[in-house]
Amino acid sequence: MINVPKLTQYQHRIETVLHHHLPDDTLAPSLLHHAMRYSALSGGKRVRPLLVYATGECFKVDKTSLDAPAAAIEFIHAYSLIHDDLPSMDDDHLRRGKATAHIAFDEATAILSGDALQTLAFQVLSTPLQTISTKNQLKIINLLAKTAGSLGMVGGQVIDLSSTGQKLTEKQLENMHLHKTGALIRASVMMGAYCAEDLSMAQEQALERYAHCIGLAFQVRDDILDIESDTETLGKQQGADIAANKATYPAILGMEAAQEKARLLYESAYDALSCFGNEADLLRKIADFIVTRKQ
Ligand code: IPE
Ligand code: IPE
Ligand code: MG
Ligand code: MG
Ligand code: MG
Repeated sequence: MINVPKLTQYQHRIETVLHHHLPDDTLAPSLLHHAMRYSALSGGKRVRPLLVYATGECFKVDKTSLDAPAAAIEFIHAYSLIHDDLPSMDDDHLRRGKATAHIAFDEATAILSGDALQTLAFQVLSTPLQTISTKNQLKIINLLAKTAGSLGMVGGQVIDLSSTGQKLTEKQLENMHLHKTGALIRASVMMGAYCAEDLSMAQEQALERYAHCIGLAFQVRDDILDIESDTETLGKQQGADIAANKATYPAILGMEAAQEKARLLYESAYDALSCFGNEADLLRKIADFIVTRKQ
């Protein structure tokens, strides 16, 4: 998967943190807790937590301060995937190589486990921390609420559903991707940045630009993989976008243009980090991974 030892270490770290925050499934309602753990601990690349840790590293933020935002963004992501797979949305049966939540459990349990993962994210994020100022903690909570909601990820999902079978312009397509996927990726980077007490305006703008580019590139690559990869590698049904007549980069612009778009975004992401030295190397490695990944 990701061939960078430091990122693998962070992947292990976030597993432990997620385990710690998820209610034990011996606690009532145990079926709901089982479903929450099933979806949140089912693997996944953990790209969003990695972005939180890697951005925090740029400012030498203590790792323990980054655990809460890293877990919160992954809980929001896990909830978004459960709901994305529902029959009323993408109607998918396979996720991370396992049955999707509504197949493994039932639709109501899947919906409710998504709801509970969303509130768990804010519970974790709002628990007082010794190492971050209250002002910055509030800023982080506010950012996640905004980017996960109707003007961010959820808004993007609405555009996705209403665009199925439509011939979007490149601008409309970009807007949809920046919302449905870019919003949470941007939040991951900026939450990591807001854990630092000494963030300059120039650094904030540079990270915003980096996050914008990799967020869009992430979904462009996801669209490409739906065509180029296979079900086993992806852990989700290959060809699902074509079968559902989804508006994607390859469908609207063609495969070559989609690949070129991902390449240009990658270059812009690198360019955005030019005001940082080696301290941003992990962010550069994540950008590499995002555009070359096979799953
Ligand atoms: C899948 O996200 C949904 C999109 C936003 C494209 P990921 O590719 O990050 O999924 P996991 O978490 O690794 O399974
Ligand atoms: C999912 O986009 C975006 C969110 C879950 C917010 P997709 O529908 O393309 O994701 P996959 O391909 O099912 O993982
Ligand atoms: Mg979808
Ligand atoms: Mg989907
Ligand atoms: Mg997809």
